[in-house]
Amino acid sequence: MNPLASWITLLLGVFYVCVGLVVAPSLAEAAADREKLLTEPGVYGTFATFRLNDSWMKQDQATRISQLTLFKGVVEQHREKIAIDLYLLRGMSGHADLMFRVHAAELRDTQQFLVDLQGNAFGKYLTGTGLMHGVTKKANYVPGFPDQLKADLKVASDPWPKPYAIVIPVRKSADWWALDQEKRAVMMREHTEATLPYLKTIKRKLYHSSGLDDLDFITYFETSKLEDFHSLILSLEQVREFQYTPRFGHPTLMGTVKSLDELIEAFAQ
Ligand code: HEM
Repeated sequence: MNPLASWITLLLGVFYVCVGLVVAPSLAEAAADREKLLTEPGVYGTFATFRLNDSWMKQDQATRISQLTLFKGVVEQHREKIAIDLYLLRGMSGHADLMFRVHAAELRDTQQFLVDLQGNAFGKYLTGTGLMHGVTKKANYVPGFPDQLKADLKVASDPWPKPYAIVIPVRKSADWWALDQEKRAVMMREHTEATLPYLKTIKRKLYHSSGLDDLDFITYFETSKLEDFHSLILSLEQVREFQYTPRFGHPTLMGTVKSLDELIEAFAQ
């Protein structure tokens, strides 16, 4: 290699290393933000469901693809600030065709995303069918549980993918809220003990909604075994705490977890 070519190769190498040093941490930071939004307390969780209008399918495929590309742009742009998960409900839930689960440090950032989404060429074919908000909090009862139960709860979930997502809104009765913390804690312990056989196959996340919506909790689950989920619900219906739950579901939403590209593919066909 002549000396000039060696210099160019060296300079290019230095350039790529520098770019790597600048870009890699910012990418790691962006990923870390999503991780934080999905794990930390004090984060707003929103579930927004939509039906796709019949007129969508009446357009030719090229038009649909160009509108879906614009939709992709809106999701990607907002992903810089908020975490957006997507679900295909069509064929599995009678309530909607698609669902967004959004996590944001500020609820107004979620609002801006949903407004931009509906103002978009693809969004014009969407009709909103439901919107629920909650906030993540530190565990209320777990810190007072016996050490053995706390240890049992730490069982890691199976590593393989959990393609199904289920969302169940819950409202508790005035009698529940009137009970003192100790009585509620005993019943939440029974609730937790009933769930232990399902820790490996069912992932869960809890959102507190009192005052933010017409419900008290949004419960979210992912699983690869719907039959286990069915058995879990039957077990929970037998614990005393369930008697204080006048609203369970209505609606129960069920769908499959999709990446942005998978969802676009499903609607492009
Ligand atoms: C693997 C399955 C599950 C596990 C391990 C589990 C565990 C727990 C634990 C430990 C708590 C107490 C959190 C705290 O300390 O604040 C809790 C709360 C709660 N769980 Fe579950 N749970 C499961 C499934 C379910 C299901 C299927 C539902 C209903 C659809 C449900 C509804 C709730 C609700 C509404 C609360 C909040 C209760 C309150 O604060 O009054 N859970 N769960």
